Amino acid sequence: MKIQQQVSLKKYNSFGIDAKAAFFCEINTIDTLAKALQLTAYTTKFILGGGSNMLLTQDIDALVLYINLKGKNIIAETDDYVVIEVMAGENWHDLVLWTLENDFGGLENMSLIPGNSGTSPIQNIGAYGVELKDVFVSCEAMKISNQKIKTFSKTKCAFGYRESYFKNEGKGKYIITSVALKLTKKNHKLNTTYGSIDTELAKNNITNPTIKDVSNAVIAIRSSKLPDPKVLGNSGSFFKNPIISEKEFSVFSKNNPDAPFYQVSNKEFKIPAGWLIEQCGFKGKRFGDAGVHKNQALVLVNYGQASGAEILALAHKIMAAVNEKFNICILPEVNIIK
Ligand code: EPU
Repeated sequence: MKIQQQVSLKKYNSFGIDAKAAFFCEINTIDTLAKALQLTAYTTKFILGGGSNMLLTQDIDALVLYINLKGKNIIAETDDYVVIEVMAGENWHDLVLWTLENDFGGLENMSLIPGNSGTSPIQNIGAYGVELKDVFVSCEAMKISNQKIKTFSKTKCAFGYRESYFKNEGKGKYIITSVALKLTKKNHKLNTTYGSIDTELAKNNITNPTIKDVSNAVIAIRSSKLPDPKVLGNSGSFFKNPIISEKEFSVFSKNNPDAPFYQVSNKEFKIPAGWLIEQCGFKGKRFGDAGVHKNQALVLVNYGQASGAEILALAHKIMAAVNEKFNICILPEVNIIK
């Protein structure tokens, strides 16, 4: 096990924030993970996955364990479906491409989501009408306190909109080591109605789409709206879309008849935070090296040298403006590391 000192985390977080880890260890096996957790010389440990959903606001005075467990296997199979087990350090989009090469259906709408497979259950990643929970079977996680591996069923994971057990009661207690997903081998259930997937397919004269066509449509839509973290540092949606009550919605929609919304239950309405932020005039605005993306106001970007504190200050400014104008509280989706 190699422990390095004073390692820049710039290439390990998609925001490209140049914070430093006091100590850093890359984890390639379950055994090394258990041993690293037992190192008593380092009292604080910080678990780092794909680094695509966090904002580092300062240096990390801890032993950073970079989870880079690799591998994927078919663990069950019938004529109709496969269950695959994917190790936590596998890049999510590479996994999606691998499933498409094998004609396994289920992940196509979640193409191009940044991050690693192991962190996908934490916030129940989702896009274009499909969420991880729709294909999820179970995951394995190591308990930090005793290094025992535990299997979490879908029910135990308590998935919600960008929510799970691992963001709530289980926070800071487990490290996800692998996930098991159930995918179709035939009769793929295509989900093309959400967002502009249908429009994108029609544009390319595709009337009978395959899962690969759906993935290509999603990739085209995402690339047109969301910046590539390799080019412009970002963490995808910085905020969650707020959910408001029926009563709040009746006031909101009277004042804002043109606002987009989705009804999530008969008493709750989801309002796109990107729209609220755009209405407050932030879309495309730049403050030093911190900014709001020009094509999607939900995404905050780092033009190069922004510190995490500067991005956070911009986030607070946006939250206050939205609250002031709409009386709606928007909250970060990204983990703010203080
Ligand atoms: N909108 C604006 N201005 C903006 C951005 C959006 O008016 O700057 C409006 C759009 O016109 C549309 C509505 O807001 O009417 C919704 O926009 P969009 O379809 O782009 O989706 P979103 O609600 O902004 C969510 C997810 C994305 C996911 C897309 C597509 C959250 C927080 N974000 O965004 O997830 O890709 O739906 O399914 O739920 C991510 O989590 O990193 C992410 C990118």
